[in-house]
Amino acid sequence: MSTMVLMINLTSSSVAFAAPTTFNVVDLGAKGDGRTDSTRAFLRAWESGCASPSSTTIYVPQGRYLLNEVLFTGECKGRVTFKIDGTLVAPSDYRILGTSGKWITFNKVQGVSISGGILDGQGAGLWACKATGKNCPFGARSLEFTYSSEITITGLTSMNSQIFHIVIHDCKNVKLQQVQVTASGNSPNTDGIHVQGSTDVTITQANIKTGDDCISIGPGTTNLWMENINCGPGHGISIGSLGKAANEQGVQNVTVKTATFSGSQNGVRIKTWARPSTGYVKGVLFEDIIINNARNPIIIDQDYCPHNEGCPGQVSGVKISDVVYRNIRGSSGSQVAMKFDCSPKTPCSGIVLNNVDLTYGSKSASSSCINADGSAFGLVHPSSCLAA
Ligand SMILES: *[C@@H]1O[C@H](CO)[C@@H](O)[C@H](O)[C@H]1NC(C)=O
Repeated sequence: MSTMVLMINLTSSSVAFAAPTTFNVVDLGAKGDGRTDSTRAFLRAWESGCASPSSTTIYVPQGRYLLNEVLFTGECKGRVTFKIDGTLVAPSDYRILGTSGKWITFNKVQGVSISGGILDGQGAGLWACKATGKNCPFGARSLEFTYSSEITITGLTSMNSQIFHIVIHDCKNVKLQQVQVTASGNSPNTDGIHVQGSTDVTITQANIKTGDDCISIGPGTTNLWMENINCGPGHGISIGSLGKAANEQGVQNVTVKTATFSGSQNGVRIKTWARPSTGYVKGVLFEDIIINNARNPIIIDQDYCPHNEGCPGQVSGVKISDVVYRNIRGSSGSQVAMKFDCSPKTPCSGIVLNNVDLTYGSKSASSSCINADGSAFGLVHPSSCLAA
């Protein structure tokens, strides 16, 4: 008899110890009414979750939760998962977040996951302000991870961010899966996903419709994998702008595999400032891509200098090498379907075209090369202008 009781006690206590703990933000004071500021409740949930040595879940039930600028800081004792069935809503007055530049930020966290949920940045007011040319704040990024590792974001939707929707900055080992981004095709600076200074980042099954780059890649990015991406409207997938700074880290080992661009301004782009810089881009693969009617389906532009300001000599220092375009087909919205405009100081080398077929309506498409070396094999149309 006494042996039996002892056994039961042991079993139940070990189960209780191992069970993950859930913190429901509503239990901590959040209100899903779209009006009540729930920032404090989310921070309370974070403090509890982050302090717990075992894995914890922060649960956000259905409803609209108004959040002000919020910073979730590590380091945490165990892994923390946000499971979100609701919508997080930014203040409708864009001036509240617009000058700080941030809405939801995670800093110095390890092992954080976000599963599901909608972020509503309510950016339309700021876009309208910018369209009138008034003195508007620059705007806030909706979700940003900085100095973090082992991050997983699955099934998250980000809509109408004031500026960039999702930013991965100085992070390691990040997975973004089934992320959706939606914003108006003419909303300014609303990049879908921006990756910078980060290594081992994978973005898979993303659907991005926005007003700026669907995915933009900044200096210091290495081992970036993008697969099954739908982009458009938007400005395409862009490595850059790079080389604005004189001293800049390079971009290395970037893959885009299986992507469709529909009505985007560009397809796959590499863009650098026409300024002196130590930056570089090397080891890029664009493979299995369909581009429907982009103005610039394939473009390297090393002559970027908006308003012609601050580009002494108008020459980029960024060296671009080993870029492969394989199995790419589709249509161009302009005659020059392939454009390689490289720097006279650091010409592009190792550009490879392999089975590329781009049309321009019923007219003939052309390619344009400046300071670009490389090779073409398989079917390549329009024919390559790369120097061997
Ligand atoms: C390049 O990046 C991929 C992930 O995107 C990684 O699997 C691979 O090992 C990297 N290659 C090198 C040489 O680091």
